[in-house]
Amino acid sequence: MDFEKRILCIGAGYVGGPTMAVIADKCPGYRVELVDISEERIRRWNSDDLPIYEPGLDEIVKRNRGKNLFFTTDIPRAIAEADIIFVSVNTPTKTFGQGAGQAADLQYWEKTAREILRHSKTDKIVVEKSTLPVRTAEAMERILNSRREGVHFEVLSNPEFLAEGTAVEDLLDPDRVLVGCMNTESGRRACEDLEAVYRHWVEPSHILRTNVWSAELSKLVANAFLAQRISSINGISALCEKTEADVDEVSRAIGFDSRIGSRFLRAGVGFGGSCFKKDILNLVYICRQHGLEEVAQYWEQVVRINFWQHDRFVSNMISEMFNTIAGKVMVVMGFAFKANTGDTRESPAIRVVQRLVEECACVRVTDPKALGNARRDLEGVEYVSFYDDPYEALEGAHALALVTDWACYRDLDYRRVYQLMEKPAFLFDGRNLLDHEALFDIGFNVYPIGKAPLRHLTVK
Ligand SMILES: NC(=O)c1ccc[n+]([C@@H]2O[C@H](COP(=O)([O-])OP(=O)(O)OC[C@H]3O[C@@H](n4cnc5c(N)ncnc54)[C@H](O)[C@@H]3O)[C@@H](O)[C@H]2O)c1
Repeated sequence: MDFEKRILCIGAGYVGGPTMAVIADKCPGYRVELVDISEERIRRWNSDDLPIYEPGLDEIVKRNRGKNLFFTTDIPRAIAEADIIFVSVNTPTKTFGQGAGQAADLQYWEKTAREILRHSKTDKIVVEKSTLPVRTAEAMERILNSRREGVHFEVLSNPEFLAEGTAVEDLLDPDRVLVGCMNTESGRRACEDLEAVYRHWVEPSHILRTNVWSAELSKLVANAFLAQRISSINGISALCEKTEADVDEVSRAIGFDSRIGSRFLRAGVGFGGSCFKKDILNLVYICRQHGLEEVAQYWEQVVRINFWQHDRFVSNMISEMFNTIAGKVMVVMGFAFKANTGDTRESPAIRVVQRLVEECACVRVTDPKALGNARRDLEGVEYVSFYDDPYEALEGAHALALVTDWACYRDLDYRRVYQLMEKPAFLFDGRNLLDHEALFDIGFNVYPIGKAPLRHLTVK
């Protein structure tokens, strides 16, 4: 079959996979291909066991795979044939050398740029999908256009705003699609071509065009603002615990103000995920590079509060359980960084388990989708075991710590859970997900975030 356009995405991960699956679904006239250096990932994209879990993704992939959606490791051929190349490789925080712990590690991204250069024989539009430091497109253009052989590369920034757990929904109905281009004739033409892809299903009024630097920076700023709201309400949650205010009531009260809005105001054990921390630290690094120390410190504090909130959660467990959890069975319910994903990158659960183990507790981890990743994250950590069945994990446990807001945890039979556990039974709800009064009535000692604890003085 002759395709109208050939789209390639380099990097078949949490962003590349769902984004390309949706483009293939909405643009049947385009050939959409994904490549990755990980043979294992590509093998799984071509199997019934996809490498990532996202609600609705299985159906979309299965509907289009082999028709106009393809997964391959043949990077040179795929680059040579593509008209538009999305680059969606990982850009983690640098762990070595200059900027270690803050700057973005651009080695994967730069290797990709050089691969594109090596295998291109026709003009390409190269789209930055990865989250990158502002002005990365400049470096990308310099690398790509360093070999003048009549091949022209136009670099666009098209950052992705999907949230894991709702990726398919977000891609199908995005708040906005952001496209940044160079203010040149060829830049504007490339922008038109990319916008035409999205216009297959996104209202033109939701497609925003900016200069390329604004687009790059907007992604970092969006994540910084989202994370900042969580750290703000988490900071307030600590004050609520000291003053008998209730953080949910405070959130509701301030969220009614249309200038504030109600979303992203839920207190909890802290944010996780591969993006918030790394993108804020990257923003902090860039501010410092530009001599903006006060701005850097302001954003750095968002990350500090988050880490403090993870630690505060565990410290509270220890002090409420008579200042010792050594030898006690502590069940960590949920290991994914949020509900509806199997992703555990930067999950608060990692820190929680580490701290519990440091206190010599016996930790049992359960999660409906993330146990594979949890096993990898905690490889070599002693006194940790993994359970598919939460009831099995809770047998003989001294405490239950709810860390991920999986809806299925709301539906457990907590009378049965209470029977299974040692008494007094401690329940720490790190997501304020459960019905605390009902749990207290069953007999649990209940510790929400940002609210007064419900303690029994005698065992029921
Ligand atoms: N995960 C999210 O929710 C999210 C949301 C918006 C933006 N982002 C950004 O998107 C980018 C990708 O994130 P992700 O979560 O999909 O990462 P990921 O680690 O899941 O996927 C990246 C993939 O790129 C592959 N890769 C690395 N170098 C390669 C190369 N040279 N050639 C081919 N493949 C290569 C890796 O093997 C990996 O499979 C990051 O910059 C991230 O900040 C992520």
